Amino acid sequence: PEQTFIMIKPDGVQRGLVAEIIARFERKGFTLRGLKLQNVQQSFAEKHYEDLSSKPFFRGLVQYIVSGPVVAMVWEGKGVVSTGRTIIGATNPAQSAPGTIRGDYAIDIGRNVIHGSDSVESAKKEIHLWFPEGIVQWTSSLHSWINEQ
Ligand code: GTP
Ligand code: MG
Repeated sequence: PEQTFIMIKPDGVQRGLVAEIIARFERKGFTLRGLKLQNVQQSFAEKHYEDLSSKPFFRGLVQYIVSGPVVAMVWEGKGVVSTGRTIIGATNPAQSAPGTIRGDYAIDIGRNVIHGSDSVESAKKEIHLWFPEGIVQWTSSLHSWINEQ
């Protein structure tokens, strides 16, 4: 089944949004497969966002990600990459719909609370980068109540 990498950024942790964010993914019906709180080294943040290294906001973005602990997670389920992005909302909170995480909890693009992988391919890369130790194999007993097949 499809998996995505979700990270609650330092502002989300500082603002006490961890439980609220996890609840949204749980209640949707997705399965938690990995979870940890950690500080991020500068070189690791640069690696995570390497595709954006030529952007003018790259330095500020890296500083933001290393500014406090983050919550790294792997979530699994049908269409979780795309649906995860829908739950998160548009990159710029000024354009994120109400009801999305960024739409409900953020104002500034440089403090937008949460990251989600943008494709199945980048999800694989990011899960490998953030969880080299591997993730947890388990099957929810609710699976057939949430998925038709
Ligand atoms: P992530 O889930 O964090 O990867 O966001 P995204 O996929 O919605 O956007 P993108 O990957 O293009 O950018 C990564 C992050 O860089 C965003 O979440 C923002 O925090 C930051 N960012 C993107 N564009 C801008 C910008 O124009 N200005 C500033 N200050 N930050 C930006
Ligand atoms: Mg992105």
